[in-house]
Amino acid sequence: MPEKIAITMQKGGVGKTSTTVNLADALRRFGFRVLVVDLDPQANATRILQMNRSDAPTSTDLMLNADLSAQDTVTATKIPDVSLIGANIKLASIDNALRNPERYPQPIQQLQRKLDAPDLAFDFVLLDTPPSLSILTMNGLAASDHLIVPMESGSQFSFEGIEDLMDIITVVQTVRQKLNILGVLVTKHDRRQNVCRAVFSSIQDRFGKEVFTTTITASTAARKAEFSGESVIQHDRKSKAAKDYMELGKEILGRLEMNPKKQTGETTAVITTHQA
Ligand SMILES: Nc1ncnc2c1ncn2[C@@H]1O[C@H](COP(=O)(O)OP(=O)(O)OP(=O)(O)O)[C@@H](O)[C@H]1O
Ligand SMILES: [Mg+2]
Repeated sequence: MPEKIAITMQKGGVGKTSTTVNLADALRRFGFRVLVVDLDPQANATRILQMNRSDAPTSTDLMLNADLSAQDTVTATKIPDVSLIGANIKLASIDNALRNPERYPQPIQQLQRKLDAPDLAFDFVLLDTPPSLSILTMNGLAASDHLIVPMESGSQFSFEGIEDLMDIITVVQTVRQKLNILGVLVTKHDRRQNVCRAVFSSIQDRFGKEVFTTTITASTAARKAEFSGESVIQHDRKSKAAKDYMELGKEILGRLEMNPKKQTGETTAVITTHQA
């Protein structure tokens, strides 16, 4: 069974989508097969990853249509060994659709039952969630084994709403006992700035060992990569943000007590060039 990891934080713009896409690329470079599930109606991960605009069924269809399996909705992406269950704006109304107890008696477990299917042949499933604590987000959490909580170090408001997220996790654990926080990830970090250092140390005070040692550096390469529809590792492998995401992949494998299936470094760089 794949390790399922939701990247979640209801605060907007903290790096959920960037982390999902880049971690997917990092993990596949360590030799793993990765599925990204886009659970955000903004569909940013879908836009970055998808090959062409497609009519393939989306995560909305997967959650609402009992006959559809996860495998039926998987599409290939621009990144080798990374697949996608995409989203579109229709996902914005799913909370309303799921508020129908006759049709959906277990509204927050619609996705869980699909992603727990034994035929899902991936090593990792990464779920990008929207900036809300909605039934949709709860579906993402209930389908996951682990959470990564990104927090922006450049904002003194990073902690806002964190207790509400913790409450939602407790609710979801009633239907997903194993759900745990794999780590808190400090994003858009700039060691030179006082505010970043101060926020980083208060995040450490609050979460202790849960905070990943790896932080993601604030970098223009990350923004440019998004603009050109690539992971930052594809866009500029030598950039600090690209190295940070590779390091994060390694730290996550360590926390999950897994070993890379493939060594990265120059060998992978050559392979990647041939594939591209
Ligand atoms: N390390 C980074 N350095 C600089 N900019 C970054 C970095 N990571 C992400 N960004 C930029 O910050 C913005 C928000 O990032 P992202 O979309 O990943 O956040 P999000 O949490 O998914 O947002 P939303 O809540 O809207 O889904 C994007 O424009 C992205 O390019
Ligand atoms: Mg996002």
